[in-house]
Amino acid sequence: MTILNGKEIAAEVLAECREKVEALQAGGITPGLAVVIVGDDPASHVYVNSKVRTCSELGIRSRKIELSAEATQEQVLQVVRDLNADESVHGILVQSPPPPQINESEIIDLIDPGKDVDGFHPINVGKLVVGDESGFVPCTPQGCVRILQSSGIETTGARAVVIGRSLLVGKPLASLLMNKGFNATVTVAHSRTRDLAAVCREADILIAAIGQPEFVTADFVREGAVVIDVGVNRVEDAGRKRGYRLVGDVAYEEVAARCSAITPVPGGVGQMTIAMLMSNTVKAAELRGS
Ligand code: GUN
Repeated sequence: MTILNGKEIAAEVLAECREKVEALQAGGITPGLAVVIVGDDPASHVYVNSKVRTCSELGIRSRKIELSAEATQEQVLQVVRDLNADESVHGILVQSPPPPQINESEIIDLIDPGKDVDGFHPINVGKLVVGDESGFVPCTPQGCVRILQSSGIETTGARAVVIGRSLLVGKPLASLLMNKGFNATVTVAHSRTRDLAAVCREADILIAAIGQPEFVTADFVREGAVVIDVGVNRVEDAGRKRGYRLVGDVAYEEVAARCSAITPVPGGVGQMTIAMLMSNTVKAAELRGS
């Protein structure tokens, strides 16, 4: 059984980004990323801070824009308008989920598609579906397929089952895996799927993106399958100083005993998401060329 090391593969991606940033800088362009966070969800702040830190390690200029939990829709829209107009900003990301008074899809629709490094704008969603590589692909799905590629796992002809149909992961990942280049036979399963465990047992590659701790147990997994765990769930743990530990959507120990390869949590897909965000930001700067 192989443990798929997201940290190592993310380091590969970041090294590629660093070279591209140096080439851009030699041509007078410093890539810039703006991260907008609304409210004070502690996990979101941790993610945003590590995005900003990774930018500075690579020579990408970053801006963090914090709005209070009571911010209005208009305030967030105005921030996005200003960032769209700002030439020093190549990528814009509005951290999800925002507080309940914010209409997230209206915000996403306003982001300049050429700066939409999250790949959530309908133009970029459409480009992914038609296979137009000039668009931006969401970071977590890109991270998942990069793990498969870098680990030499064959996707062509493989049966892939994605559990979860979110805009953030499930839907774009299904599109990616079925596109030319990956050529998998893809099933998207979700909370309403009948006999979910039996559907999952068909998978050569099983990807769990449901957001429920340790939901995928050994009976979901065919002997020898490859398992990618996208979940990052905080569960209470009085034995830890911070009071919680992180677990995935997969019951790691029992599934690891059945599969041929698995991503751990932490240290798997989570590491990749930030690396792919850096890669999308570099791509945005390269495409604009100024
Ligand atoms: N929240 C969790 N993951 C993501 C992501 O990839 N992008 C944004 N904008 N918010 C997130």
